[in-house]
Amino acid sequence: MKVAFKIWRYDSVSGERALREYEIDAPEEATLLDCLDIVKDKHDGSLAYRKSCRMMICGSCGMRMDGAAVLACKTRMYDIANEGRVPTISAMGNLPIVKDLVVDMDPFWAKFMAMKPWLQPGYDQPDDGREYRITQERMNVVHKEALCINCGCCVSECNAMESDPEFLGPQALAKGMRFVGDPRDGAKVERLEQYSQEHGIWDCTRCYFCNERCPKGVDPRDAIAKLGAEAIAHGIDRDMGAKHAKWFVRSAETTGWLREEELIPKTQGYVAAIKQLKFGISLAKHGKVRPIPFPHTAKDVGEARNLHKLVREQDRGGAMGHVQGEKALERLGHGHAIGGDLEEIYARPNAAPRPWLPEVEEKA
Ligand code: SF4
Ligand code: SF4
Ligand code: FES
Repeated sequence: MKVAFKIWRYDSVSGERALREYEIDAPEEATLLDCLDIVKDKHDGSLAYRKSCRMMICGSCGMRMDGAAVLACKTRMYDIANEGRVPTISAMGNLPIVKDLVVDMDPFWAKFMAMKPWLQPGYDQPDDGREYRITQERMNVVHKEALCINCGCCVSECNAMESDPEFLGPQALAKGMRFVGDPRDGAKVERLEQYSQEHGIWDCTRCYFCNERCPKGVDPRDAIAKLGAEAIAHGIDRDMGAKHAKWFVRSAETTGWLREEELIPKTQGYVAAIKQLKFGISLAKHGKVRPIPFPHTAKDVGEARNLHKLVREQDRGGAMGHVQGEKALERLGHGHAIGGDLEEIYARPNAAPRPWLPEVEEKA
């Protein structure tokens, strides 16, 4: 097939930048990475990009296609070529470009190392001398985080990092959750304290681009939400983001609604709220807020309260209370195929047990 694409070329030594177009012959099964190999081999040997495994394992080949991060070795070109599209390939975002599609990963690894990404043992050995065993339910909490291949696609698209380069970022925080959620780790509270500082958990803007672009179904935003829930469960709630989240829950439990008018005093404190009194009065005049002493309570508020009671009874505070996104779990089950046929996955010979997948109902 004929494949055409443009590549942003860049030379960090000369500062020269140019958008070059290439048209190549490639086999129908070719990925973007195969196509780059063809360009380098047959058309322009000066093209720079990274690769190693060619099978979505090493995390080397992250780059952007039409402005969105992809793994080049996971991106098939057949449909794109058939549709006559000419995509633009460029280096990942939020990291300095060294040459063409190669970025400097040092800032990425520095944040990764700041998370202390190793187990700090803090558990009692079983009396019988056998190994420490973790239940599947506990491992499910960190299963997605453990799939990260450190490709940087999430970092490339992170909005918070764009405005604050010191933000720890989705990959590092997902790695942090990998250890916070591991019952064998003895440094959970210290980690949560560290990750709750400025540039940490609460500086995420919740844009969900990291979930959208992660090629391995790690869903870093979910990991950050789990870290936030764990921090609050351990009383680490000094940050305004934590106070904000706590008030959402408290408000929903007590009235069945979000009492927005109380968000500022509960999040920023009463002094900050008084400073914004003029704005509050203006909102009240326009019917945008209700007087704080008379919160509206939903008719069936008992249901909201029962739900909270159930969560407490089942001891599902913190990360354990997070519902894992069904789409993400399904992707985990098989690598691709969102909306794929689960029965077909289960039926595969020697299929590994996938307890995190939704149950498939027996056919009548
Ligand atoms: S959800 Fe948060 S961590 Fe993820 S890309 Fe957006 S700002 Fe970054
Ligand atoms: S979380 Fe996903 S996108 Fe981010 S580095 Fe890990 S595998 Fe790549
Ligand atoms: S070359 Fe290893 S992930 Fe693409």
